[in-house]
Amino acid sequence: MNKIKSIVVAGLGLTLGLASCDSGNLRRTPGHIYAPDMTYSRAYETYTSNPNFSDSLTSRPPVAGTIARDHAMPDHIMEGDSVAYKTFTTAAKFSSDELKEGGRLFNIYCGICHGTNLDGNGPLYSSGKFASMPANFKDGKYLHMPVGQMYAAIKYGKNMMGSYASQLDPKQRWMVIAYIKKMQADNGGDAFTFGEAATTAPKADSASAKATAKAEPKTDGKQIAANKMK
Ligand code: HEC
Repeated sequence: MNKIKSIVVAGLGLTLGLASCDSGNLRRTPGHIYAPDMTYSRAYETYTSNPNFSDSLTSRPPVAGTIARDHAMPDHIMEGDSVAYKTFTTAAKFSSDELKEGGRLFNIYCGICHGTNLDGNGPLYSSGKFASMPANFKDGKYLHMPVGQMYAAIKYGKNMMGSYASQLDPKQRWMVIAYIKKMQADNGGDAFTFGEAATTAPKADSASAKATAKAEPKTDGKQIAANKMK
């Protein structure tokens, strides 16, 4: 009985083995072709020569200006165009998590010079090893600096400050700027405009406004806003 079993198994193995050897040949000579368009593609193979293009390459580069999926839009700010710097901006708004991320990036890339509390007195400068004082973002000179000018400083550098374009992609640059602007708003700068549309804020606003109004009945709107930011 066992003998018969092993003969059957060996026979099956042999048949399968032979059949698999033959398949290469079968594919190359398909015999009758039901749909020749499918068997013989009319499209050019990727790396074959192509008479339709002057460089005869079938594999084409992407169309100029193509942006890879999930990549940020490029910016068009040119180095040295200080007029454009002042008006360049973004419509992006950032969540509190993104602001936090902006702060994390700031502390990694900028804090060493500008200080983690943004006073321009980071450890590299305070150690005396860096000749030029980094911008003090809490100082009046920088408190109202246009965001595009900040963006240009990150992208192209400014005097002793090198470019951070290779470390931060455009979105990260804006997140860092949003973080700086938020910190500035909290320290007497312009009102913060990069935040997400206020959803819960109005409630908190009116509550704090009421509280302030109680404490100082004559306080006007401007002062309330300033108080809120502290
Ligand atoms: C190696 C030290 C150093 C690092 C790191 C650094 N900066 Fe600066 N930064 C400076 C110095 C110095 C200046 C002053 C340049 C000047 O006005 O001569 C400056 C100026 C600036 C200005 C003002 C630009 C202007 O037009 O006056 C901005 C904005 C700025 N830095 C942002 C950043 C940001 C954001 C980062 C992190 C991505 C960063 N910096 C990292 C040294 C540094």
